[in-house]
Amino acid sequence: MAIEIDLSGRVGLVTGGSRGLGRADALTLARAGADVVIADLLVESELSEATDAYGPLAQVARTQGLVQTESAAAEIRAMGRKAIAVRCDVTDRDQVAAAVARAVEELGSVYILVNNAGTLDHVGQFSDQQPELWERDLRVNLTGAFNCAQAVWPHMKERGWGRIVNMASVAGTLGGFGQASYSATKAGLLGLTKTLAMEGGRHGITSNAVVPGIIGTEAFHMANAAMNERIASRTVFKRPGEPQDIANAIAWLCSDLAAYVTGIELNVSGGVELFVF
Ligand SMILES: NC(=O)c1ccc[n+]([C@@H]2O[C@H](COP(=O)([O-])OP(=O)(O)OC[C@H]3O[C@@H](n4cnc5c(N)ncnc54)[C@H](O)[C@@H]3O)[C@@H](O)[C@H]2O)c1
Repeated sequence: MAIEIDLSGRVGLVTGGSRGLGRADALTLARAGADVVIADLLVESELSEATDAYGPLAQVARTQGLVQTESAAAEIRAMGRKAIAVRCDVTDRDQVAAAVARAVEELGSVYILVNNAGTLDHVGQFSDQQPELWERDLRVNLTGAFNCAQAVWPHMKERGWGRIVNMASVAGTLGGFGQASYSATKAGLLGLTKTLAMEGGRHGITSNAVVPGIIGTEAFHMANAAMNERIASRTVFKRPGEPQDIANAIAWLCSDLAAYVTGIELNVSGGVELFVF
């Protein structure tokens, strides 16, 4: 019998799914059989100049039509699965609670959490890093993941089955030049991941981190091209990865095939952390 990733009967909550990796993750969980809630600050029907305040990437996403939260949910429903798009700021515990309540009410529960929402636009050498953006990055990347994990935890415990996947980064495992706040939050996620793995085991909950290197998302293409080129040249493949590379790893971690895998940092990085020369 062929081995396959089968998530039918599961419900996944993917944060930051309006574009990029989160969108690919949501679509892939659905292709594997899951129903999906896509939660993001940005949803098509509620975009305005006011949402540009979330940062330069939010503005570019709005003006270039890159916000695809509701359309991804529609794409999933067209596959015959259930899916909802929810406007949700992961830093706001009430909004997170409301998103999880909707998931439970409309889709039955939450079995899978992909903590993908993140900020990638605070780049600058340490002495130039801005305290407000340091705080924002902690709130979104780290506290946001904590908020979401705490909100789904009782539902996973009740079912005796859960999968938490935190989107880390090689900036968290290796450090990131010009990314002090970002790398600190991603390193922090690794500690959270391992602690949840220890505490979740008795409840059938696994917790793992995926560690992308550089992946060719819209956010990546908006970053400094020379820097991207330098990083790509450090991978063993001499190119960025694709969002699907990350989504495939996540689908596997969320399946029963990975039932005995917990507390790991799974590099999906083209070997960028290796000593390539
Ligand atoms: N692209 C890469 O090369 C790469 C590498 C390593 C790690 N990552 C991580 O993967 C994740 C996705 O990266 P991406 O390239 O798709 O980035 P992206 O900027 O395209 O996507 C981030 C998403 O998070 C959403 N978001 C931001 N703040 C939020 C909040 N407070 N509440 C809810 N949603 C919020 C954004 O609207 C956006 O949809 C991030 O956590 C990022 O740090 C990406």
